[in-house]
Parts: sequence; structure tokens; C-alpha cells
Amino acid sequence: MEGDKLANFGKIYQLFLGPQVTMMLYTVVELDIPRLLIEPKTFSQLAEQTPAIPEKLERILFALEPLGFFSFSQETGLWTNSPMSETLLDEKINAMARWLGNPFEIEMLTKFPESVRQHVSATELRFGCHSFEYLAAHPDLLETFQNTMRAVTKIFGDGYKIVDLSSANRVLDVGGGDGSLLIELLKWNPHISGAVYELEEVKSKAEKNFTDHNLQEKFSVISGSFLNSVPEGFDCIVMKHILHDWDDENSKKILQNCRRALEAGKQLKIIDNVIIRSSDHYLYARMADIHMMAILNGKERSKEQLEALLNETGFRLDSVDQIKPIQDFVVSATAI
Ligand SMILES: C[S@@+](CC[C@H](N)C(=O)[O-])C[C@H]1O[C@@H](n2cnc3c(N)ncnc32)[C@H](O)[C@@H]1O
Repeated sequence: MEGDKLANFGKIYQLFLGPQVTMMLYTVVELDIPRLLIEPKTFSQLAEQTPAIPEKLERILFALEPLGFFSFSQETGLWTNSPMSETLLDEKINAMARWLGNPFEIEMLTKFPESVRQHVSATELRFGCHSFEYLAAHPDLLETFQNTMRAVTKIFGDGYKIVDLSSANRVLDVGGGDGSLLIELLKWNPHISGAVYELEEVKSKAEKNFTDHNLQEKFSVISGSFLNSVPEGFDCIVMKHILHDWDDENSKKILQNCRRALEAGKQLKIIDNVIIRSSDHYLYARMADIHMMAILNGKERSKEQLEALLNETGFRLDSVDQIKPIQDFVVSATAI
């Protein structure tokens, strides 16, 4: 093979092995290897502390090492974390590894090629129902999902200080999960009170979170479906990582229900990815878009696509601001 082709072959082969890498990372996180290697160890010291077959674990570590995870010193005979494997200890990355490698995700992806030929998600083809229905029927998986969502919200908590709630008092977080975002927003906007609007199955998780933070007087939880209606009586709606879960038709329904719930002049804050070709996060946005397509028949959108949805549902787009240093944006709109 010629030089260029050979170099391309190496890169392509590594990409082909994506699912295998996902599973190796899932396995080492499940075995808690990054934590066990906070202190450098010989392999036998490490192996003693895990239920894995030692010979298999060692081969996994040696395969992950050239990808940048873990480091073995031939001089000392010790294994230790590399900067990348140390990052697996980070709450958000750890939760993502546990989510992206879990059997639901992996099995869902087996239906990806078929889903590309139909207007349904790979989840529906594999499991026969929408992802949120499947989660509702599987409490352990729902717990893992909500933990991932919470970790993502909490880790970048400081970034949410740019969500301007100075003119809002009662804030409704539509599809607000366990309430972690409202708790983060309260740090920068101590004047707010409000509620999470969520599916019945998630209600108790948000209530527990508010009680654990002694915030049950400030925040309540209302159960229902945003596809049917959104509660009135709030002067700002926040919606994080919701629209990207849904196709245009359902996104319009959600936005129309938000519009009905808000008086003219009140604010809507959409926190989501925005696809911007020139952005540093462009690759991430494109990958997230495909993930949304596969798992939920959803999509990431450009600013123009979001603006069109807002205009059609009675909102005016005011601004789009990046929540640095991550890929999320705050899309601020006013009910007209
Ligand atoms: C991707 S998660 C985002 C959660 C949270 N906003 C966050 O950013 O961490 C989507 C949320 O929408 C909720 N959800 C799904 N369908 C819903 C519906 N029909 N009505 C209300 N909430 C719904 C799910 O339970 C889930 O918590």
C-alpha cells in the first residue's frame, strides 16, 4: 500500500473500532480502574482488587495505553493513570462512559442502519417503543440516565451564570429532570423560585433532590407531558436538552404549549447545542446530532432552524450565547 493510503488505513481502522473502544472504556470504568490507579500499582496489586480475569484486564490496559489511557512504566513495573484516564474520574465523563457503553445504547445502535431508511429511531426498531417510554419502564436504566443528566448539568454549573433571569421570579424548568439545573441557576439568581415540569416517573427524583438541598419551599415538581400542555403561572420557561430530543413536528408542539403557558413579553430560555460550522465544537455537534437521530429521532439544530421553529410558534429570537467552555448555548426568546 502507498504511504498516504497506509496512513489513512491506520486512521480508518481506529475509527472502525469505535464500539470496541466504547466497551473497553465502559469496562474499565465499571471496574473502577481509574480510581484504583490514583496510587501507582504493579499489575498484580491492581488485579487483586478487581473481579476481572487478570490476563484479560492486562490486555485491555495495554490496548488502551496507546490510545492515551493509563500508562505502564517498564522501569518501575508500575501502572498509573495518564491525564486521559485520570479524566475518567471526572463525574461527567465517568457518567457518560457508563451511559454510552450500557447495553441499551449498544443494542439500540444495532438498528442504526435500518433506522436510516425509516422515519423512526433505532430505539423504536430495537425495543418497540420511544426511549422515554423504555426508560419509564426500566427504573435502573432511568436512574443511570438521570445520573448522567445530573452530572452533565452539575459539572458545568458555573457556565450557567450567563442565563439572565434578572427579570424573572417564577421559573418553570420544562423537562427539568431531577431539578439540578434550577439548583444551579439559583446560585446566580437567588431571587428565583419555581418548579420542574416532568413525567410522573421522574417526579419523585426531583422532589428528593429539592428536599436533599432543603429547597422544597422554593421549588416544587409538577407532573405531566409537555406534548399535551405546559403549566401556566410562571414568568420564564427554561428548557435544557429538550428540543434536540424531538423532531420538528413534536418540537413545535412543545413550543406551542410553552407559548400558551406564557403571557406576551415573557421569556423562554432554550439551552441546547447549536450547530455552527465555524465553531470549535462543530464535530461534537455533528456527532450529537447523529446520536439524537438514532436514539430519539431527534436532531441538533442550527441557529436558523431554531429561529424558524420559534417564529412559527409565537416567539421572537433575541440572542444566542455560548455557555463557555462547553458546547451548549442559551437561546433567549420572547413570547410575542
Ligand atoms: C435529555 S433529558 C434533559 C433533562 C434536563 N433538562 C437536563 O438537561 O438535565 C430530557 C428530559 O425530558 C423529560 N421528558 C421526556 N418526555 C417528556 C414529556 N412528554 N413531558 C415532560 N418531560 C418529558 C425526560 O424525563 C428527561 O428528564
